[in-house]
Amino acid sequence: MGDLKIKIGDMQLKNPVMVASGTFGYGEEYAQLVDLNKLGAIVTKSITLKPRAGNNQPRLWETASGLLNSIGLQNVGLKTFIEEKLPYLQKYDTGIIVSIAGETVDEYEKLAQALKKEKFDALEINISCPNVRTAKRMLFAQDPELARQVIRKVRRYYKKTVIVKLTPNVTDIGLIAKACEKAGADAIAVVNTFNGMAVDLKKGVPVFKNIVAGLCGPAIKPLALYKVYETSQAVRIPVIGMGGIMNFHDGLEYILCGASAIAVGAGNFIDPQIPVKIIKDMELYLRENHLGKISRLVGSLKC
Ligand code: FUM
Repeated sequence: MGDLKIKIGDMQLKNPVMVASGTFGYGEEYAQLVDLNKLGAIVTKSITLKPRAGNNQPRLWETASGLLNSIGLQNVGLKTFIEEKLPYLQKYDTGIIVSIAGETVDEYEKLAQALKKEKFDALEINISCPNVRTAKRMLFAQDPELARQVIRKVRRYYKKTVIVKLTPNVTDIGLIAKACEKAGADAIAVVNTFNGMAVDLKKGVPVFKNIVAGLCGPAIKPLALYKVYETSQAVRIPVIGMGGIMNFHDGLEYILCGASAIAVGAGNFIDPQIPVKIIKDMELYLRENHLGKISRLVGSLKC
């Protein structure tokens, strides 16, 4: 048997395959389609202090091999999440990673404070959503000092595993990742979506009201893979790789480039079985190649 177990911070997972925040709701939406117990971890849709209705339509736009999204962090808000969504997920034998987002440093702090006693495995600090305006008019993940401030505040309250989700829309992702590591993050999730746009030619206007939207799906895989490689070269803490993963080969590429775990995002919209198929193929690959543990392959790319 191949050993798929991995450890990120103090979170122990039975396999390294997660489903990415924003592509899997709060888990219950997929429970009839996938055996949730098989997943390494479920990363829930980023929650905010108050419920959010999200952006106006259109919110999704297909591109060649990709998907632009501008959801605007639609979510049920902290209270409903704690009262209804988290207890539902706790029934399953899978890692639970709760993603949080805020428009100010204070909001992140309040979320961490409110969640510190709840039962789940790790907190994902999403500082990289391109579809909402922060009070600073800039993503926290685009400035090492802003990223540091958020993590420090969250760390004051939340003592278990902290993962920070970064944007690829920076010149040097290693610099931001290092700042997060120094501020107390246990892992870095790389990447959120790439900035993109689309044009409605009939009307001569941008498709999205915000003009910019986030591009995900297979179209971004080579770009995201390089960001994962750059990040893993810059930090000692684990990296969770994501961006256009559709099958086991994609996932393995991320692992060789330095990812300790991977997350399937847009792939869930095409075939919700993709994460489970990857887990099965990964185990088979380890067994057939007598490789033992998946952790041995992390960062094993020969350059
Ligand atoms: O628009 C959204 O809700 C996207 C969130 C994200 O990319 O983090």
